[in-house]
Amino acid sequence: MGNRLAGKKAVITGGASGLGAAMARMYVSEGAQVALTDINVEGAKQVAAELNATRKGAASAFAHDVTNEQQWLSVLEQANTEMGGINILINNAGIGSMGSIEDESLANWDRVMRVDVDSVFLGCKHAIKFLKENAPAAIINMSSIAGLYAAGTMPAYNAAKAAVWLLSKSVALHCAASKYDIRSNSIHPVFIRTPILDGMGKALNVENVEQRDKLLARGIPLGRIGEPEDVAYAAVYLGSDEAKFITGIELKIDGGMSAK
Ligand SMILES: NC(=O)c1ccc[n+]([C@@H]2O[C@H](COP(=O)([O-])OP(=O)(O)OC[C@H]3O[C@@H](n4cnc5c(N)ncnc54)[C@H](O)[C@@H]3O)[C@@H](O)[C@H]2O)c1
Repeated sequence: MGNRLAGKKAVITGGASGLGAAMARMYVSEGAQVALTDINVEGAKQVAAELNATRKGAASAFAHDVTNEQQWLSVLEQANTEMGGINILINNAGIGSMGSIEDESLANWDRVMRVDVDSVFLGCKHAIKFLKENAPAAIINMSSIAGLYAAGTMPAYNAAKAAVWLLSKSVALHCAASKYDIRSNSIHPVFIRTPILDGMGKALNVENVEQRDKLLARGIPLGRIGEPEDVAYAAVYLGSDEAKFITGIELKIDGGMSAK
């Protein structure tokens, strides 16, 4: 338990699972209040209940499809009322997608763009109003190492996460020029052990999770895939006032992969 985020009020999308839930846990342990949003509202409620058992009123949960603009407007209003302000937005909800450019369908491409890119656009666009009222504030957008380095097997995901990368910088520059004291940064993890990797296991045709993780770790200099807490530590830093001079950066959490 610490207080690096004491007084901070964070909206975390995709808070029901994986990285969203891990960030929520670490945010609350560092003193923040969190509003967890997810299309899987039961999952978000479960994580919120677990957190409220550690500190009463620490977490709330909202049903939210991040591709839906109306839902963004109402979730932000409700979270703002519930927490008495919003000063951190973590655009984390997202989906993976595998398939070469020849195999990819326009329908799936559109789906990935809606969930992984439109969501971040809508979140940034509509949260600024609340963040500037509660500055100093921070936006953290979950991109991927796949937004910086391509693979032939994931054109839609590569393109979506690259869009999030530069969108984050554009938002950073706009907020700085507008003197809002809202920082905007992107996080770029390599493979991290969460349910999103289930799809990769299938694509790699491996029998179990150990085999999958071993295969995925082959290109990572530290020799292993990451844990959700590796990303949560970065999100604590970028959300806290310790990072008050940090905006427009891409923080890679990749076990050294991009050093090669
Ligand atoms: N785990 C990794 O290896 C890894 C690596 C790089 C980037 N990422 C990114 O991290 C983010 C979180 O992924 P994760 O690994 O925790 O995966 P996850 O599948 O465990 O969690 C994703 C969450 O997003 C939610 N979600 C999906 N579509 C949604 C929608 N339309 N509206 C609202 N919520 C929706 C899901 O219900 C789920 O709770 C994603 O943006 C992902 O692309 C993950």
